[in-house]
Amino acid sequence: MHTSTETELNRAAAEGFAARYGRPPAAVAFAPGRVNLMGEHTDYNGGVVLPMPLGLGVSVALGTGDIPGEIRFASAAFEAEETRRVEEASTGAWSDYVLGALKALAEPEIAAAGLCVFVASNLPVGAGLSSSAAVEIGTLRAAAALFGKPVDPVDFALRARKVENEFVGMPCGIMDQFTVSVGVPGNGLFLDTRTLEYHPAPLPDGHSFLVIHSGVSHRLTESGYATRVAECKAACEALGVEMLSDLGPDDLARIDALAEPLNRRARHIVTDNRLTREGFAALKAGDANMFGQLMVESHATERDNYEITVPETDAMVEAAVADGALGARQTGGGFGGAIVVLVADAEVDGFTDRFARAFPGTRLLAVTSA
Ligand code: GLA
Repeated sequence: MHTSTETELNRAAAEGFAARYGRPPAAVAFAPGRVNLMGEHTDYNGGVVLPMPLGLGVSVALGTGDIPGEIRFASAAFEAEETRRVEEASTGAWSDYVLGALKALAEPEIAAAGLCVFVASNLPVGAGLSSSAAVEIGTLRAAAALFGKPVDPVDFALRARKVENEFVGMPCGIMDQFTVSVGVPGNGLFLDTRTLEYHPAPLPDGHSFLVIHSGVSHRLTESGYATRVAECKAACEALGVEMLSDLGPDDLARIDALAEPLNRRARHIVTDNRLTREGFAALKAGDANMFGQLMVESHATERDNYEITVPETDAMVEAAVADGALGARQTGGGFGGAIVVLVADAEVDGFTDRFARAFPGTRLLAVTSA
């Protein structure tokens, strides 16, 4: 399990920068990954989500460069080194997330000075834990420090989402960037993605959330994700609403009358919004059992209605619950990636040993408790 703290990762980024560029960085900043506990794909439908930041994350080290407008990228986590121009369009490379964030905050400054970048990360890519949002927010924080710009966490989340939507071309919602920028480690975050109203959500005492990589890296994520976004839009048009979160349980009869698969896509959004609200209430009441049951229901709607799970994660969730976990579900964008499991603290060691034996291709990434 990775337990690198922010300090360790910042040091790794600074050392990597110095080794690569022959001088220390001028600014280093960390941003965490996140795990989503409930409310999947609701965020681009104006719904509610319940994620939390992780101890794992990304550190970005920056220093000004030698050639105005030129940016040099290096990383211990991503293979290829690159040199690009600040005015360049996206290319599909990992450096797009950094470049997009830099352009969003300090394009004129970089056009005048040039920049060197080094990224260190202990977040697995493709696990559904928001490595891209962590890179964006880490970059915004480091660039703000370097160029003396104010840090506004909500504004940074909005800018980072815009980078994804308009520069990278990923039609995601606001959940990841908001959690990474605004969330407080050790706390859940209940967020209304339409109003951006948010509340801390206490984690249940005496219990831990385990984040386990299924070993199946996002399959078809990009095409699958965009397809879901398009299906939700089509369902909105068919139902005459602006966003699917305008609908509630009372609308399920007319939702079910829609053609396949739009009916099940809309049913998922209504269902997961309800489960997320109930989940927030359960966390506030300290009711871990209830929260666990809701996680299992949430996995079922991901599987049956939204069809974003894979047989491997379905089997893991089922086995975790059969083994005595209070709840389990696939987390994140889907089509593989990580599952999140709720267990009593006293059961963590036994559960993780048995699970690793039953599913040797999996990897425990994080244990998060109150
Ligand atoms: C990805 C996106 C988020 C959200 C989740 C699914 O992580 O970036 O905006 O839609 O998938 O809940």
